[in-house]
Amino acid sequence: MQCQPPSQQYLANIPPGPKPWPVVGNFGGFLVPAFLWRRLTGVRDRPAAVSPPVFLMQQAKLYGNLYSLFVGSKLVVVLNGYDVVREALSNHADVFSDRPDIPIITILTKRKGIVFAPYGPVWRRQRKFCHTTLRSFGLGKLSLEPCILEGLAVIKAELLRLSEAFAHTGVDMTPLISNAISNVICSMSLGQRFHHQDREFRTLLDLMAHGLEISVNSPAVLINIFPLLYYLPFGVFKELRQVEGDITAFLKRIIERHRSTLDPENPRDLIDMYLVEMLAQQAAGEEDGSFTEDYLFYIIGDLFIAGTDTTTNSVLWLLLYMVIYPDIQEKVQEEIDEVVGRDRIPSLTDKGSLPFTEATIMEVQRMTVVVPLAIPHMISETTEFRGYTIPKGTVIVPNLWSVHRDPTVWENPNHFKPSRFLDNEGKLQRKDCFIPFGIGRRVCMGEQLAKMELFLMFTNLMQAFKFRLPEGVPSPPMHGRFGLTLAPCSYTVCVTARN
Ligand code: HEM
Repeated sequence: MQCQPPSQQYLANIPPGPKPWPVVGNFGGFLVPAFLWRRLTGVRDRPAAVSPPVFLMQQAKLYGNLYSLFVGSKLVVVLNGYDVVREALSNHADVFSDRPDIPIITILTKRKGIVFAPYGPVWRRQRKFCHTTLRSFGLGKLSLEPCILEGLAVIKAELLRLSEAFAHTGVDMTPLISNAISNVICSMSLGQRFHHQDREFRTLLDLMAHGLEISVNSPAVLINIFPLLYYLPFGVFKELRQVEGDITAFLKRIIERHRSTLDPENPRDLIDMYLVEMLAQQAAGEEDGSFTEDYLFYIIGDLFIAGTDTTTNSVLWLLLYMVIYPDIQEKVQEEIDEVVGRDRIPSLTDKGSLPFTEATIMEVQRMTVVVPLAIPHMISETTEFRGYTIPKGTVIVPNLWSVHRDPTVWENPNHFKPSRFLDNEGKLQRKDCFIPFGIGRRVCMGEQLAKMELFLMFTNLMQAFKFRLPEGVPSPPMHGRFGLTLAPCSYTVCVTARN
């Protein structure tokens, strides 16, 4: 079946795909069942069969690894499998690196910041400035280790306290992990950490997670077809506006506090560095209009959203896999005991000496892909690609999930097997087709930070505790919950100190 909306010459040679419905395009075909599922069953977690990344991968069996869909009248091309994703995002990076103007995102971000900013000189300057500044505050460096360990110390103390009280029902690790993770971003960008019981901060984290989920996984996605729905005074639309307003108020208060206490000689964090750069540009008269407080606001929001939910969910997936595969948990603990022992805590300097532990982290990331559809890209020029013509402005969805389940590059891709990342001598083997952080010019800006956090969190928790599911409680479904990130379905774990 070839999709050919009438009288649009430039769509004549687009990749094949299912026939679009009037008005909604193929929208109804893959997103509406999610709402219906929830409406009809009342169950929040959907079966994998209708989760968007899995559904999009299944469609590739019908139309090939490169196919078209219509969301409303908007052409969307889905990239599946390692070869197609790499060829597009890496080999044709010049044209595949823009971001689309998606109504719900444009309303929420004004296309400022980094994550959703159009590809071009402003995005490049902002990304470079933030990356360099975060590096100066320790991103990717050993100097950041104490900051991450501080959060871990809180988790460990809390787990010791909670483990007995929740010995039968188990502990929900989500608030503890997300607090420790977001505090790392807070330290670097806001210059402050928050107590895990700080009510305002806890509310902010919950709002962000909720906002992300409803903006891609509720009737709020209809805003992309009918933008005026955003202003409806009820339901998820009102909820979304409320979430946006609360996050805005929180961040604006913090920026304002920085401005009024700024000492340009002693910048405390990313906000200070940004304000200093802004003033320097104004003084030199070389403003390009992008270094503004408004822009700063969206950048901080980006770092929070991109840096908290993704890493938190990755740690939660790691723990879940360890309780489902207790033999792997034991093997990881044996390796840590042998290399690090129990008298000192694992450090980033141990990284090269814990290949099985690292392979386990990578295998869980491969299986779970917390940002399974990356962030939508857009074609900036009409492009010939693999024999098809993809018109300028087409939305591109790189299905990273399909890359990690691609049977042409992974043996038994649905099997959980950490040793696939080890060579015959047990050394860690990097693989080009392992791309949880994306690939090309839009590759995750926080990759090094996330890797540090995952390694330290995982090794420290594995060294200190044994995790298992509560007695008689069935394991949660492993397909997860799809928002912009893929979160595990809620679960609790019983925790026993190993010492
Ligand atoms: C395990 C944790 C993480 C994963 C799996 C992850 C994954 C990703 C992915 C797949 C993308 C989209 C790539 C694309 O569009 O092609 C992305 C973008 C991004 N990530 Fe991450 N990320 C993680 C943690 C972080 C952290 C901690 C930060 C904070 C510094 C961060 C900041 C960003 C930013 C700013 C972008 C947008 C880059 C751009 O558009 O130029 N991420 N990430």
